[in-house]
Amino acid sequence: MEQIIALDEFARDTLKGLSSENKYLLSKYFYDKKGSEIFQDIMRMPEYYLTDCEMEIFQTQKEQILSEFKNGGAHFDILELGAGDGLKTKVLLSHFVNQQIDFTYSPIDISVSAVTNLVEGLRYDIPGLQVNGLSGDYFKMLGSFNNNGNPRKIALFLGSNIGNFNDAQTLDFLLKLKKSLSISDQVFIGFDLKKEENIILKAYNDKAGHTADFNLNLLVRINRELGADFNIDDFYHREFYDSSSGKAESFLISKIPQEVHIKMLDKTFSFRKDEKIYTEMSQKYDLQMIENLANKTGFQIVRNYVDKRQYFMNSLWKLKS
Ligand code: AVJ
Repeated sequence: MEQIIALDEFARDTLKGLSSENKYLLSKYFYDKKGSEIFQDIMRMPEYYLTDCEMEIFQTQKEQILSEFKNGGAHFDILELGAGDGLKTKVLLSHFVNQQIDFTYSPIDISVSAVTNLVEGLRYDIPGLQVNGLSGDYFKMLGSFNNNGNPRKIALFLGSNIGNFNDAQTLDFLLKLKKSLSISDQVFIGFDLKKEENIILKAYNDKAGHTADFNLNLLVRINRELGADFNIDDFYHREFYDSSSGKAESFLISKIPQEVHIKMLDKTFSFRKDEKIYTEMSQKYDLQMIENLANKTGFQIVRNYVDKRQYFMNSLWKLKS
């Protein structure tokens, strides 16, 4: 999940976010080496139900998923946007290989090293798999993808990664995705569903403090890469959930009035006691919201897959005909 982003972009975004009336930092910067490691810990902890639920869906419904992917027996190419460690996707991939399905798998990530590691792991774990890692911008990769004569693409965007986008970014993402697809292609998206507030809050405010570390690591990264003097102990992590909108939001909160200097920006930022820095959105959805998103962006739902507890939904879409 490690992302390589030009330093000046990180500096610019940090300047913009911390100069804003309501301070914010962008969640895409969580995934430096340390942040990617902490995210692995988050995915392994029991409170973070998202990973377990999507895993359960793949394990228990892989036959049905495959039959919809095949859509009558044609060959297909799977492209996964932001593949991460691929642990869940492997369940589907091994099943497809065992069924001797003719398909290819291309994980796409901004980080070259993330893709290289994943591909090496997959070559070892699933020897029969035709895998080809791509690194770069999702849409450029989707648009220029060489389909090797296979007629269909299936784009995966799993793990409720879509939840990190705000409403406008979500529409923008789905519209761009649609533009890079053809009529017989499909998209398979993971959505975390609205549920009891406590369950959500525990997933984003765990006892062991992994989520707090994950969030605070943003300040550690700013200290290291931009020469700032954030005292990490003077901030704490807090999660809020609004059950009607389904918005779960992360903040870093200043425990005291304080000033922080960022050398690279040649600037000092003041924080009031209890002042919040907005760091992450993790949108939760209901079926109506998912249907609306598909409708508004020119897709139609082929089939939805949910886990036993109905905490998570993988929704398979095709272009509206
Ligand atoms: C990787 C965006 C799906 O929002 O649930 C986990 C990231 N943040 N714990 C999420 C995350 C805090 C995660 N996504």
